Amino acid sequence: MSTFDLRDWSSCQLDLVEQALEKWVSVDATTDLDHHAPADLMESMRYAVLDGGKRLRPLLVMAAFEAVCSGLVADYLPEEERIDETARRGAPDPFLKGEKPTEAALRAACAVELIHAYSLVHDDMPCMDNDVLRRGKPTVHVKFGQASALLAGDALQALAFELLTPDSATLAPARQANLCRLLARAAGCAGMAGGQAIDLASVGLKLTELQLSEMHRLKTGALLQASVMMGAACGDTTLQVGQALQDYGAAIGLAFQVVDDILDVTADSATLGKTAGKDADQNKPTYVSLLGLARAGAYAQELLAQAQAALRRSALSDTRALHGLANMVVNRSN
Ligand code: IPE
Ligand code: IPE
Ligand code: MG
Ligand code: MG
Ligand code: MG
Repeated sequence: MSTFDLRDWSSCQLDLVEQALEKWVSVDATTDLDHHAPADLMESMRYAVLDGGKRLRPLLVMAAFEAVCSGLVADYLPEEERIDETARRGAPDPFLKGEKPTEAALRAACAVELIHAYSLVHDDMPCMDNDVLRRGKPTVHVKFGQASALLAGDALQALAFELLTPDSATLAPARQANLCRLLARAAGCAGMAGGQAIDLASVGLKLTELQLSEMHRLKTGALLQASVMMGAACGDTTLQVGQALQDYGAAIGLAFQVVDDILDVTADSATLGKTAGKDADQNKPTYVSLLGLARAGAYAQELLAQAQAALRRSALSDTRALHGLANMVVNRSN
């Protein structure tokens, strides 16, 4: 099997994602905005989304999509022939005539990133975490004002769903509906927004580990897990693969926020591109406040092991990118 370099793989995927975001988050893509107010709104949306961020969620979408397209391990094939077999078989069948699976995955990747970017804009507002620095730049409300930040978030959320419902035959209607359902659920009351509500209601409280994990699973984990499931939904999955990917997404989703809590304490603002030390300042319950740094780190590693085990259970033949991203989630420095 050829060697796999996560950095090379990511850089190819990110070229596509950046180009797509540049194209889709633009005045041109939103028909004729001949009034300057919506054009200004678009400027704040672009500021929130373009050039910045690790783009982990789009990478997860693309990695899961590739993994399900790589097919199941053919037990009778020796390891070194599995990839060739995948290449020979080509794209899987379940697509309707005219569907463009790769464009579908790219749309899903961008849609998740738009929801994420919107969540950051609102998370930073004075009514929430009141942050002035994000992705190495002044936050959207600092740069454009609070009303614009609110509207930029609203409009980014709407644009995410617009991307998932192209009027062309690019995406079969059933696939569009499935992607919208996955994203809506992860963004809403039972996902990110609900988790953010718990976060705000928990300031100054000491949560149990169960309560804290529930908050983290919702506010951060749900969207990461949805990224994985949306990538898979752009291809074809069996029940076994779907369940294994759910478990993988749940493990890295929680791990991601555990590590975010750790980095808030251990990293500096320049490395993070956002203000370090905010959680303790604002009296937020975190894995570090609950377990201490060492045990929080050990827990993140345990979640990584769970994610890796889930990938093995999936029996997918090529999970190298998903493995690499799980490793990056837990062992990152920003
Ligand atoms: C930060 O997410 C907010 C959380 C959900 C913890 P990321 O660390 O993925 O932020 P960017 O996209 O790289 O800026
Ligand atoms: C935010 O969690 C999760 C979101 C839904 C945006 P945090 O408040 O810990 O994220 P950062 O640390 O500001 O990026
Ligand atoms: Mg927050
Ligand atoms: Mg915050
Ligand atoms: Mg944080």
